[in-house]
Amino acid sequence: MAKKIQITETVLRDAHQSLIATRMPLSDMLPILDKLDKVGFYSLECWGGATFDSCIRFLDEDPWERLRTLREKCPNTRLQMLFRGQNMLGYRHYADDVLEYFVQRSVANGIDIIRIFDALNDIKNLQTAIKAAKAAKKENPNVEAQVAISYTTGPVFTTQYYVDYAKRIQEAGADSICIKDMAALLTPYYTAELVGAIKKAVDIPVQLHTHYTSGLASMCLLKAIEAGVDRIDTAMSPLANGTSHAPTESMVAALQGTEYDTGLDLVQLSEIREYFMGLREKYIKSGLLDPKMLATDAKALIYQVPGGMLSNLLSQLKQAGKEDQLTQVLEEVPRVRKDAGYPPLVTPTSQIVGTQAVFNVILGERYKMCNDQFKDLVAGKYGTTPVPIDKEFQKKIIGDMKPINCRPADLLEPELEKLRAEIPEWIEQEEDVLTYAQFPKVAPGFFKKRRDKKIGINPDADIKNKIHPV
Ligand code: CO
Repeated sequence: MAKKIQITETVLRDAHQSLIATRMPLSDMLPILDKLDKVGFYSLECWGGATFDSCIRFLDEDPWERLRTLREKCPNTRLQMLFRGQNMLGYRHYADDVLEYFVQRSVANGIDIIRIFDALNDIKNLQTAIKAAKAAKKENPNVEAQVAISYTTGPVFTTQYYVDYAKRIQEAGADSICIKDMAALLTPYYTAELVGAIKKAVDIPVQLHTHYTSGLASMCLLKAIEAGVDRIDTAMSPLANGTSHAPTESMVAALQGTEYDTGLDLVQLSEIREYFMGLREKYIKSGLLDPKMLATDAKALIYQVPGGMLSNLLSQLKQAGKEDQLTQVLEEVPRVRKDAGYPPLVTPTSQIVGTQAVFNVILGERYKMCNDQFKDLVAGKYGTTPVPIDKEFQKKIIGDMKPINCRPADLLEPELEKLRAEIPEWIEQEEDVLTYAQFPKVAPGFFKKRRDKKIGINPDADIKNKIHPV
């Protein structure tokens, strides 16, 4: 029986997040949206924590306005976002009232598919988000609550572990499952085993998201397809490969005329390629895209850490003048991970574990210093870790802090009204309170610039001398 493989195109989110630090402005997307919308992609991934952050921090763009524009220009294709469960797009746990409101507003502004993941693969942290997404179906029947498994390696992460988690995801009400290999750790033959086992265990569609970093992505996707995967994530070729994804056109061509044919038109795709080729040249010329990012690098397979984490570690060490200790830090990462209950390394756990490994190495003594996030992780405040943490180690790290075993958000009071009351002067639309909730330090500066622009104050104006350059 012919099985059409569906494609999620990532060029508007993960591709540029992986290659140019999420700096693609809406103005670079606008000229091609009409063509992207006509291809017949299953979905266009276009929104998430980093795009939101980059919009208000660097691009002076309202992320909600971007979403509404994408919705308007792409009426025929599902729009997809990435969502960190109870962390939403931020870095802490939010109370349920904020989360529910965020999901509702995201759908109201144009999102169809919410891909939800938890850094610890703790189902408790996903339940409210799944329920909120399902509730939003009333407004938009296209809404899909997809749960992503944070894929990682380590002694507990057997195929059985993933099969059990997939079953729990299905029981929790998810509409589909994504295997999210953010660190490009999957290899082709293991992918076939993993996908085959998960497909056997659940009835909902299964999708694969993997990165090209170590050069294996297309092979992993192909083996996944043979093993029964329903959907794959790819990126238009000018922003594919390297730390991004497998090229869309190549996957479409590979499947053409087979039982897995995507039905997408290569001629149409090649017109879109021309456009993104222009952007690629522009980004290389401006220095935004470092051609090094496009090279294949199997280091991730050796150290089992995501590429982004590797560059973070290096920059932390540089700041301390200790770049020569990178190898020691990379050896310390798995030890810290083991002590902390084997969290998968994805935002925010990758930063927490990485920073602790750096402290342990540069201070010459393990756990001499721990930041609050590491203490919270060990205390259970991010959720239940895949492996229980040793009680003695926990005591040593958290001291008198009380460890928790419940769903972390159960300890939070409703906070939406409180957040609203903190920024009455900046609220121009209902969604602003959510921008503020997630980025409380950056949002006020963004709101101010937005208002100044509206009332015509040039940010370069010399207010004191009343000179306003045009
Ligand atoms: Co990714």
